Amino acid sequence: MKKVSSAIIPIITIDRDSQLPLHRQVYDRYRAAILDFSLRPGQRVPSTRTLASELGVSRTPVVDAYEQLLAEGYFESRVGDGTVVSRSLTDQIRRSESSTSRFASLRSGRRSRALRATKLEPVQSGPRQRGRGAFCAGQVPFEHFPLQVWNRLITRHCRNTCETSLGYGDPMGSRNLREAIAVYLRTARGVHCDSDQIMIVCGSLHAIEISARALLEPGSRVWVEEPGYPFARNTLALHGCQVVPVPVDGEGLVVNVGIKKCREAQAALVTPSHQMPLGVTMSATRRLQLLEWAENSGAWIIEDDYDSEYRYEGMPIASLQGLDRNFRVLYAGTFSKVLFPSLRLGYLVLPPDLVATFQEVRMAMDTFSPGFYQEVLADFIREGHFSRHIRRMRSLYAERRMTLIECLRQELGLTGEVSGSHAGTYLVLTLNGIPEQAIAERAAGRGLWLLPLSPFYAGKPSRQGLVLGYGSTPVEEIPKAVRKLREVLAGSVASTKMNHPKRL
Ligand SMILES: Cc1ncc(COP(=O)(O)O)c(C=O)c1O
Repeated sequence: MKKVSSAIIPIITIDRDSQLPLHRQVYDRYRAAILDFSLRPGQRVPSTRTLASELGVSRTPVVDAYEQLLAEGYFESRVGDGTVVSRSLTDQIRRSESSTSRFASLRSGRRSRALRATKLEPVQSGPRQRGRGAFCAGQVPFEHFPLQVWNRLITRHCRNTCETSLGYGDPMGSRNLREAIAVYLRTARGVHCDSDQIMIVCGSLHAIEISARALLEPGSRVWVEEPGYPFARNTLALHGCQVVPVPVDGEGLVVNVGIKKCREAQAALVTPSHQMPLGVTMSATRRLQLLEWAENSGAWIIEDDYDSEYRYEGMPIASLQGLDRNFRVLYAGTFSKVLFPSLRLGYLVLPPDLVATFQEVRMAMDTFSPGFYQEVLADFIREGHFSRHIRRMRSLYAERRMTLIECLRQELGLTGEVSGSHAGTYLVLTLNGIPEQAIAERAAGRGLWLLPLSPFYAGKPSRQGLVLGYGSTPVEEIPKAVRKLREVLAGSVASTKMNHPKRL
């Protein structure tokens, strides 16, 4: 026989001093809960035996109440299915009493909210919400993730879950995972670190949030790249930081301008390996200037290394943290791009003297990141699946990148400047003087997901262009997608006066 799953016990209170008989009280409570939509159609209710025992009464009044509710159509009962709130209750009953309609008639006093929360930059997720399309930047091609291996590791850990793994864990995260990450970062990213300096977090933005809480006062000024990642600006603004946009050129953040604008800033947030969104790699000179400024002014540098696993040209570039001799850099990394974003795991490499403070802060926030997937990921890295996956994806992305560049060269007679393609999984097509927002909208209608550059600017955009992701666009779809792009651009050129575009 099918086993009926156990129901959640609803809040049914009874008053023993009331004149109302017990069965009437149980009936009234259920009826009210169904009409105010606290109990929803189809929701299971506990058996009469369970409820009677919870309430500490005999079963008879509960059985009487249930019979009445069944007779009036509030409950329904099927053999093998237990008793549930009637699925046939009309929409009108539900809607008229739903919390939204009650909310609409609410006339209570001030409903305040934090000013900071209302002043965040409206970040457009754009056509992404209309589904996946070609050139969707930041999207991972999940079909190439080794799910079988991953599922095998999950099964292994499910089988081996022991009682100790159920309790509170270390605010720094799983020791196994931190050791595996330390080996990877020292070897592949030139990061100077020990596993004791690594805190496991829920992605890069979480790393930035924890750093802001631990190091910065509300009101602190922070250099951010202009253009830069708007979500990160919002994370800082939510903490009350004042962001100071510093322009980015072909060598990365222009440190001298930062010093002129706000020498006394308390921190800088940078993406030196592959600048978001222009894709520039910060030059050695700028790196040294940035470190020198931080050392002289006592500022912190948060290095957001969100997608630098993939490089296609030139020598691998070591992290900024690896150049730092004064422990001024906090290095943040994420598994969102290299594996998949729903994992919500990343890491923060801390200067050794900050570890204790960060632990305290973490204990005051969310204590630590969920442990199960940390252990699965530790095995994924230790057993070599991680580096194998990176190698396979690098050659897949390299092929997609080459195809895209070649198609842009052949198809787009009117193109602008392509930049940022030497690393990561996207490139930027700079097309000054184009209505980029309108182009992105029109392209979305044809199944292309193009990100205009302007939302990446905190201030007035100094250039226009489009970010084209190639990571999740299969190689055979690229030529057709570029032809569509050419048509969309040609339509816009016809209706707009463009600057003379450069040939590729
Ligand atoms: C520059 C940059 N930093 C951080 C993130 C967010 O990463 P996470 O998913 O780890 O929060 C992204 C995501 O696209 C990004 O582009």
